[in-house]
Amino acid sequence: MAESITITDNRTGESFEVPIVDGTVSAQQWSKHLPGIWFLDPALVTTAMSESAISYLDGEAGILRYRGYPIEQLAEQSTYLEVAYLLLNGELPTQAELSAWVEEVTHHTFIHENVRKRFLEGFHYDAHPMGMMMSTIAALATFYPEARNIADPNVRYQQIVRLIGKMPTVAAFAYRHRLGLPYIYPDPELSYTKNYMNMLWRRTEPKYMASPVLSRALEVLFILHADHEQNCSTNAMRAVGSSQADPYSTTAAAIAALSGPLHGGANEAVLRMLDEIGSKDNIPGFIEQVKAGKCKLMGFGHRVYKNYDPRARIIKRVAEEVFEVTGRNPKIDIAVELERIALSDEYFIKRKLYPNVDFYSGIIYQAMGFTPDHFTVLFGIPRTAGWLAQWQEMLTDPEQKIARPRQVYTGAEKRDFVPIEARGHQLVTA
Ligand code: MLT
Repeated sequence: MAESITITDNRTGESFEVPIVDGTVSAQQWSKHLPGIWFLDPALVTTAMSESAISYLDGEAGILRYRGYPIEQLAEQSTYLEVAYLLLNGELPTQAELSAWVEEVTHHTFIHENVRKRFLEGFHYDAHPMGMMMSTIAALATFYPEARNIADPNVRYQQIVRLIGKMPTVAAFAYRHRLGLPYIYPDPELSYTKNYMNMLWRRTEPKYMASPVLSRALEVLFILHADHEQNCSTNAMRAVGSSQADPYSTTAAAIAALSGPLHGGANEAVLRMLDEIGSKDNIPGFIEQVKAGKCKLMGFGHRVYKNYDPRARIIKRVAEEVFEVTGRNPKIDIAVELERIALSDEYFIKRKLYPNVDFYSGIIYQAMGFTPDHFTVLFGIPRTAGWLAQWQEMLTDPEQKIARPRQVYTGAEKRDFVPIEARGHQLVTA
C-alpha cells in the first residue's frame, strides 16, 4: 500500500490525504487544501528545495555518493576533472570524452589580461582571497556578455567550462598578489591540480614539479569537496540562479555564501582551536569546557550527518600520506586524540557529534604550505563543479520557478504616518 498522511483541518473538520513519496510530502498538495497556511521553517531545516539526481547523502549512515558512485571509490580511483564531468553529465566519461573535456577545461584556464592587470592588481595587498575570488568571478560576466543567455545549452556549457578552467587561475593569482609575487600563467601540459600548484608555488625553477603525493592528495581533497547536495552555497547558487542571473554572478553569490565561517571557513577555525589546545595533555580540560558550553568543538557535528562524515575518514588517511612528504604537522596528533576522547564520551555520542570534513582538511592544507586564509578558496575551486551541476539541473527542471519563500510577518500593525515634528521616541522593538 502506498504510504500517505491524513491531515484534518480542525477549523472545518475537512480531511485530506497526502502521499509520501521518497520520504517527502508535496507542499503543493498542502497548499491546494490549506491555502494561506505556510510552513515556518527557518534555515529550511525540514524543507526540500528541489529534486536532485546529483549527490546522495544518508546522514544517519554516513554515506555520500555522486551520481550513485560511492565517494570512497571516486576518491580512490578517479580524478577531479573526471568527477566534475560525472557531476555535470550524470555519467562517467569514456576515454575520448574525458580527453576532450580535459582539453577544453585546460584551454580555458587563461584569464583576460584586463582581469589580471586592472582588476586583481587593484586589490589592496592584504585583501582576503575569498573577496578577490568573489568579485573577480562576478566581473567575468562583463567579459562574456553572452553568458546571460542561460536558456541556450551551448552558451551554458561554454561558461561551465570557463568557470571550471579559470577558478584555479584566479585563486592562484589572488594568492600571489598577497605575497607580491609575479603571477605564473597556466601550463597546459600539467594536470588540473599540478597546474594549480605550479601557479601557486613556482619561483625560479624552469619547471615546477609538484610532488605526486601532494598533487594526488589535493586531487582527492578536490573530489571530496566537489558537491554536497543542498548546502548553504549550493542553495545560494540555486536561489540566485533561479532569477536567471548569469552564471558568473550566480557563482559569485555561491562564493559569498561559502566565505562564511559556518560554511567554508570552518577548517580555519579548527586550526585555531587546535592551537589553543596546544598539547594532548590539555584535551580533557578542553572537553570539559565544551561540555560546560564555554567553547565549541570545531569540526565536529554537521547539519545532516549524524554519523562520521565519510569525507573526514578519507581525509584522515590522506593526511598520513601527506606527512610522509611534508613532515608531520603536530596538530594531527592533538586532533586524533581529541577525536578519540570525544568519540568515547557519552556527551558527544548522545548528541551524535562526529568529525566532519573540516576537522582534518586544514591540517593537511597547512602542512602543504597554504596559509589559513586560502583554505576556503581550496573548498571553492572544486565546489564550482557541484554548483554548476546544480545550477544546470535547476534551470532544466520544469518544476522550478524563481525562489520566493514566504514569511511570517511579526512587525507593527497598520498605523498612520507621523510627521517628524510630532515624533517622540517610538523605536519599534521586536
Ligand atoms: C559542505 O560540504 O558543503 C559542508 O559539509 C556543509 C553542508 O553540507 O551543509
